[in-house]
Amino acid sequence: MFRVLITDPLSKLGIEQLLDATDVKVVQKTDLSKEELLTEIADADALIVRSQTQVTAELIQHAKKLKVIGRAGVGVDNIDIPAATAQGIIVVNAPDGNTISTAEHTFAMLISLARNIPQGYRSIVRGEWNRKAYVGVELNNKTLGILGLGRIGTELAKRARAFHMNVMAFDPYLTEDRAKKIGVQKASLDHVIAASDFITVHTPLTKETRHLIDAKAFSQMKNGVRILNCARGGIIDENALFDAIQSGKVAGAALDVFETEPPGEHPLFTLPQVIATPHLGASTREAQENVAIDVSQEILHILRDEPFKNA
Ligand code: NAD
Ligand code: MLT
Repeated sequence: MFRVLITDPLSKLGIEQLLDATDVKVVQKTDLSKEELLTEIADADALIVRSQTQVTAELIQHAKKLKVIGRAGVGVDNIDIPAATAQGIIVVNAPDGNTISTAEHTFAMLISLARNIPQGYRSIVRGEWNRKAYVGVELNNKTLGILGLGRIGTELAKRARAFHMNVMAFDPYLTEDRAKKIGVQKASLDHVIAASDFITVHTPLTKETRHLIDAKAFSQMKNGVRILNCARGGIIDENALFDAIQSGKVAGAALDVFETEPPGEHPLFTLPQVIATPHLGASTREAQENVAIDVSQEILHILRDEPFKNA
């Protein structure tokens, strides 16, 4: 029997094939302490996580039988891949199951940011009727700058085009041809930063993208720019964002992800221009089923020594 350990909440429907498999025992334990995790991993053949569990080198060293780590989602920045590779453990993710949900969430944040919807809601439930305080801006004819035109960035671009936004994008792998097909203008990082009314990041978090938007980048932006991060905490320097909002350079920010999660009582939350959600980009029934199904299939193939898709 293969022991599959699941340490973050996963869609039950999505893991049905693991639960039904006669050669698999599923052990689902969330919110484990570090010590509990080290004990549980010892005899696991497979581990499935979302973004909460930190799969560190120490955890990997405690895994005596582990063959595969499955990430039910896109970002693998919570997994120490070099440590896994050194131990011969395969790491797989679910690269496209939550693309639409995350693009839709980003678009919801874009409209909410432009029209002060969370601020207006908070004010009306406090018993106020303050129509002057929450005057917003239209998306129509505004420039949306997308940093990272991969799966999510592309779906977001299509939605922004439907709202008659001008979309420009920076991505080192973007070709003129592809940009044309999607209806976006391919531009340099500096140009996107300087020319956009809204800037949204959709890159992975890597050494190159950590603090891609820092104090210098903010200083080069238009006055009144609005910023979104529904990708990964750390791509935007949160201290620099705080200063840029306080100085009036940035008119507002919409954040789904944070440098430390959960962020607790973050200084950014003291600013009325900041709206936020608790890493909800992929939190739809559909996305959670998709990623759990994809990762479960991959894990079964790998445990059974069958061909698999991504690693
Ligand atoms: P993807 O791999 O399809 O796209 C990422 C793109 O970023 C690629 O096109 C790549 O070329 C580009 N890129 C890499 N380095 C870059 C750089 N320095 N500058 C500009 N572009 C760069 O990934 P995706 O599925 O679109 O996901 C994007 C991000 O969203 C990831 O960080 C992922 O973890 C995150 N995400 C968050 C949520 C959420 O719940 N908020 C859900 C899904 C994905
Ligand atoms: C991802 O990278 O897929 C996101 O963080 C979504 C998630 O796992 O919740």
